[in-house]
Amino acid sequence: MNKQTVKDIEVKGKKVLVRVDFNVPLGDKGAILDDSRIWAVLPTIKYLIAGGAKVILCSHLGRPKGKIVAELRLAPVGQRLSELLRHPVTCVGDCIGAEVEKEVTRLKEGEVLLLENLRFHPEEESNDAEFARSLAWLADVFVNDAFGAAHRAHASTVGVAEYLPAVAGFLLEKELEALGQALNGPAHPFAIIIGGAKVSDKIGLLQNILDRVDFLLIGGGMCCTFLKAKGYEVGRSPVAEEDLALAQQVMEKAAAKGINLLLPSDVVVAGEFAADALFKTVLITEIPSDCYIMDIGLESVEHFGAVLLSCETIIWNGPMGVFEFPAFQTGTKALAKLLASLDATTVIGGGSTAEAVTALGLAEKMTHVSTGGGAALRFLEGRALPGVAALRDKEN
Ligand code: 3PG
Repeated sequence: MNKQTVKDIEVKGKKVLVRVDFNVPLGDKGAILDDSRIWAVLPTIKYLIAGGAKVILCSHLGRPKGKIVAELRLAPVGQRLSELLRHPVTCVGDCIGAEVEKEVTRLKEGEVLLLENLRFHPEEESNDAEFARSLAWLADVFVNDAFGAAHRAHASTVGVAEYLPAVAGFLLEKELEALGQALNGPAHPFAIIIGGAKVSDKIGLLQNILDRVDFLLIGGGMCCTFLKAKGYEVGRSPVAEEDLALAQQVMEKAAAKGINLLLPSDVVVAGEFAADALFKTVLITEIPSDCYIMDIGLESVEHFGAVLLSCETIIWNGPMGVFEFPAFQTGTKALAKLLASLDATTVIGGGSTAEAVTALGLAEKMTHVSTGGGAALRFLEGRALPGVAALRDKEN
């Protein structure tokens, strides 16, 4: 990585503003359903505590659209962080202003303060200069460790870097190195597995990887588009006309480059698009015209597995089925187990794919599980991340 990190700056006695991504999934009554994003930033926070910094953490949580939403306060996250750190974490009721400045003045070396949800202020997402300056005013240096928010050009990811020396935290560095290595210097054979609902959502990724991979495996909702483009019946599965043309282009480009493009050989179908719908597995040649495709079948998982077994590098982005309905998570979970059993470099591109791997307790078995959904996708599309671009370059 060509950016300076927290190791390149003096932190002792300094007020260090750290942007983290504590946008954790919440259940009923505000329970934290997955604390992976909190675990992921512990190395940076521990390093700063041990180095005698005054640590000021800031994050967004959810999409409160510039208003205070009680359920999206960060105090429960602060409590969980304190448990994981085994160190006190003080929470404050806002992220800028007099009350916050008073708390910051009280901070001693090695102490940790967690600011309130940045997105309670509309100025965060509009990257308002005055708001960014108020955040920067709290600190001497800025550390960005929020890989999950690095694709957002917000006040706390980009704006603040105008006013403070800005460097990367260890998580940001680790993410960029793991994803960068897999994308730009993979050991071959190299496969990418792409799932998710729509071809148009992943077209940037498909175009960027077609020059690099040996195998392209397609599942999830978007496989309906590819199947239809190949002339198969896909029942009532929604297929957008413009996606059909994109799928056709991808298949032609893959064929021209000699890339092996694999589609499922069997799928799980249901008569209605519902969590409790009755379902069955059929071959792709036998998809009923009145059904929806909800998941890939187990024969497809085996079929994909036989190919993946020969690969040295595998990137996976996007679930294989309608992941929000537990009955249709089977293909995604089976693929997660399969990847966990391989010796290859396995990189999981965030979002629901990471959620599945973590829920199965398989995250440790993968080479890297990204904490970013949108950010990982944008990186894999080969596009710059504004939150990274804003950081100081390494000096030669
Ligand atoms: C994420 O969950 O992908 C990040 O925290 C970014 O959240 P956002 O999509 O609401 O900006």
